[in-house]
Amino acid sequence: MPIVYHKTLDLPKIPEHLYEKVEDILAKPNQKSSGAGWNYILKEISLELRNWLTENMPFELRAMKYCIIRSGIPHHKDFRTLAINYVIKAGGPAVKTSFFLDDYKTLVDSTICREGTWNYLSTGRVHWVHDFDEDPTDPMKGLRIILSVAPENISKFFEDYIPEQTDVPASYGGYTKSPLPIIGATGEIRTPDS
Ligand SMILES: [Fe+2]
Repeated sequence: MPIVYHKTLDLPKIPEHLYEKVEDILAKPNQKSSGAGWNYILKEISLELRNWLTENMPFELRAMKYCIIRSGIPHHKDFRTLAINYVIKAGGPAVKTSFFLDDYKTLVDSTICREGTWNYLSTGRVHWVHDFDEDPTDPMKGLRIILSVAPENISKFFEDYIPEQTDVPASYGGYTKSPLPIIGATGEIRTPDS
């Protein structure tokens, strides 16, 4: 049975006036759960955007937040099994999300998630975001801004959107039971259960 590492989803495009200006997003306080330093920061979304998502997305959502990502995040597994990401600012035309086997080395799949698209990502598997459009004179250039959400009902989501994958994660913690350590966003080593 195939593993689907990523998939562009046909979900409603977010009206641009609903996501705040980059400077305003950056000026918001970092969420406590970020904990990963400069190149991975989480920010609260506005009430207007939250309401729009609740009204317009065809399924119930949880964990709605902005992720600010910059170059330098190592290969890692998220603590959530899957994410549905809307790319607000890509950080460059060639920024890729690549997936690896549990050895953290064997590349199995790679994708470019385009601005203005919704993408399912199997974030419980080893992945790496790379090839940012870095420019030391313009730090805004290689800045990646994602709206990240997750479905409340995982099995229904797979049934409706990823039917080709029959081995469906049962919960958000389902894929972190690898015997290998997890490398956090600042390079720290975590045991799968931490
Ligand atoms: Fe991640």
